[in-house]
Amino acid sequence: MLAAEKSITRTDHELIDQVRRTMGDPIDRILFVDNLLKYGAEENFGFFLSSKWRIPSSVTFEKRYTAEQEIPLSSFEPCNTSLHELMFARKSAREYTKDPVSMAALSALLTYGYGIRKIAPSYNHPRFSFRTAPSAGGLQGTELYLIVNRVGGLKQGLYHFNAHRNSIEPVFEGILQGKLRKLCAQEMVAEAGAVLLLTMMMQRGIWKYLSRYYKFALVDAGCVVENLHLVATALGLGSCIVAALDQDGFANLLQLERHEIPVLLLTVGMTDT
Ligand SMILES: Cc1cc2nc3c(=O)[nH]c(=O)nc-3n(C[C@H](O)[C@H](O)[C@H](O)COP(=O)(O)O)c2cc1C
Repeated sequence: MLAAEKSITRTDHELIDQVRRTMGDPIDRILFVDNLLKYGAEENFGFFLSSKWRIPSSVTFEKRYTAEQEIPLSSFEPCNTSLHELMFARKSAREYTKDPVSMAALSALLTYGYGIRKIAPSYNHPRFSFRTAPSAGGLQGTELYLIVNRVGGLKQGLYHFNAHRNSIEPVFEGILQGKLRKLCAQEMVAEAGAVLLLTMMMQRGIWKYLSRYYKFALVDAGCVVENLHLVATALGLGSCIVAALDQDGFANLLQLERHEIPVLLLTVGMTDT
């Protein structure tokens, strides 16, 4: 028995045993997948951002939705929380009040969390963007969406964050709380003022790292979500990372192409504490 399994109930053990019987040992399965994804990138190390690498013209770094209806991010005050305060204040918040998140707080969250920090020549691009989060090869494997339950001045619905235009673009309007409950089975997703969805854009890096990019893009998403989690804390917002989600359900909701994979959520909202 694994140490982590000791605290779980008999029924859970029966379930785990059943999964093991039908699907094989989880470690075997992980090592199998890891082996499949291991090869094909060794020769690529050490050439980070070099002009030796030419990004194929089909690879784009700006996903666009409804340009005519885009909503510019609003201005916000600089964030002055000390690093010491911030790191010790961060925690997962799963209960939210009914107060809306302000547009200024949302704008600060997106800008500090995953905005563009500089433009410089890289690869074969004269104007390549660098974001506030690190990413494998600088290839920005994460795309960011926003499901609005309660944000001041925004209609309920799904939006896309366009860092290149400093805006959010409406994808569709609608009350999505019921859908969110179904796709995550955690009440907090329906109660949070907003739910950020992070997806992995596989085509941004497979031309360089081949199948190994699957792992790198997961790490990219981890970097972005921790940025956002910390910025939310600094802004006095509660937040919680959620990985337990119906991946196919979100892909369908967003009508994603097959090379874009939903990976994580971050719930964000006002709290009492
Ligand atoms: C990759 C990842 C996935 C997580 N998924 C969930 C989740 O689905 N539901 C949830 O309530 N918390 C989730 N969490 C939050 C953790 O449960 C939480 O970080 C952990 O219990 C430690 O508590 P703290 O964040 O308050 O320090 C996740 C955290 C990470 C990093």
